[in-house]
Parts: sequence; C-alpha cells; structure tokens
Amino acid sequence: MSGGLRLAVLASGAGSNLQAILDGVHGRDGIEVVAVGSDKPGAAALSRAQQRGIPTAAFPLAEQADRAARDGALAEWIAGRGAQLVVLAGYMQLVTPAFLARFPHAVINVHPALLPAFPGLRAVEQALACGVRVFGVTVHFVDEGVDTGPIILQRALELPYAREPDDVLPALHAVEHELLPEAIRLIARGAVRIDPADPRRVLLEPGTAGGTSP
Ligand code: GRF
Repeated sequence: MSGGLRLAVLASGAGSNLQAILDGVHGRDGIEVVAVGSDKPGAAALSRAQQRGIPTAAFPLAEQADRAARDGALAEWIAGRGAQLVVLAGYMQLVTPAFLARFPHAVINVHPALLPAFPGLRAVEQALACGVRVFGVTVHFVDEGVDTGPIILQRALELPYAREPDDVLPALHAVEHELLPEAIRLIARGAVRIDPADPRRVLLEPGTAGGTSP
C-alpha cells in the first residue's frame, strides 16, 4: 500500500482514538477515513464521524442471526466503501475469520498493554493486578487469536507508582493517540510489511523508528 489509503474505522465507545485519526491523518497524504462502523448504534464515535461528514453504520449483533452474518454485512459495507485498511479503535468485538479473510493483512488494532502481556479485556486492570511498573500500548495486525497478531508498533510508559486505572489511563490514551495514527501513516506509505521469512514478525522500512533491515 502506498500513495494514499482508504480507511474504515470500527469503534464501540467514546471514539477518542477515532478522533486522533480524524485530527492527525484524515485528509492528509491521500489518507481518507471512508467509513466508521460500530456494534453500538449509540456509540459517541459515530457522532464524531458524522460531524466530519463521514458515512457511518451500526451493526448490532442482536439484529443479525449470528456473528458470521453480522461480520458478513459489516465486511460488505466496508468493502463497498472501498476501504483498504480496517482499523479497530476500541472495537469491543472479535471479528470472524471470514471477515479477516476479506481484508488480508489489512486489519489493525490498538491495545492498551505491551503484548503479549495482558491480552483481552481490562488490560490495564490486569497489569495493575500484577504490580507492573511499566505499562504501554501496542498496535498490531489482527489475526484469529485474541490480541495475538504481528506487532507493528509498541511504546512503553513507566508509571512505577500507579495503583488505580485512573493513574494510568490518561497517559496511556495519549500514547495511543500518537501510536495509532503513526502506524496508519507508516502503512499508507508502504513502510510496513510482514516478514516473508517469519510471518509472526513485521518489518518496518529501514530509517523509520524501529525499522529493520530486510
Ligand atoms: C482504548 O484504550 C483502546 O486501547 C481499547 O479501548 C479504548 C477505546 O477508547 N481497546 P476510545 O473509544 O478510542 O476513546
């Protein structure tokens, strides 16, 4: 992917990561958010998109026969908007293998922990329960597991005195709001690829922070 990128963003909640994408990459360097979807019709993320004139749609599970049907309809809508990359930005649903097959190596997620530590729900609470002193954020490709796909970018955050989620979340969100747009910019300019010798690993273009020589 290079020379522009059409994005679909999926979000279930407040949509602060969507806002960071709208403010930081949308409409720049050929990157366009062309669709914002949710499983929750009332998600604030949808209003943020509507305010920017971006088409939105909600696909609640309760309105479909099952997850396969829901993800089929969602994938159809996203593909119909011409999206080339799907960004899960606080999307609190697992996507089906059939959905992933529709967008091969083109679904990414932001997770509020340094994976592979603390996958799944309530990652910050999991980390606090373990008494960690270093928190962090991971942006990764989505595969069929829970937060197990190849890692694109990670950033650590030292908070040795954190005891409560509120001691961590504001700083962690600020990191997410930088790291997710950065990953999108890198993908848009073709600087991210899966290592042909090791599909668990992502190669970043030499010269980018963390860039690897092939
Ligand atoms: C973020 O912390 C993200 O890492 C997690 O859900 C949260 C979503 O926040 N998966 P927002 O809706 O983008 O404000």
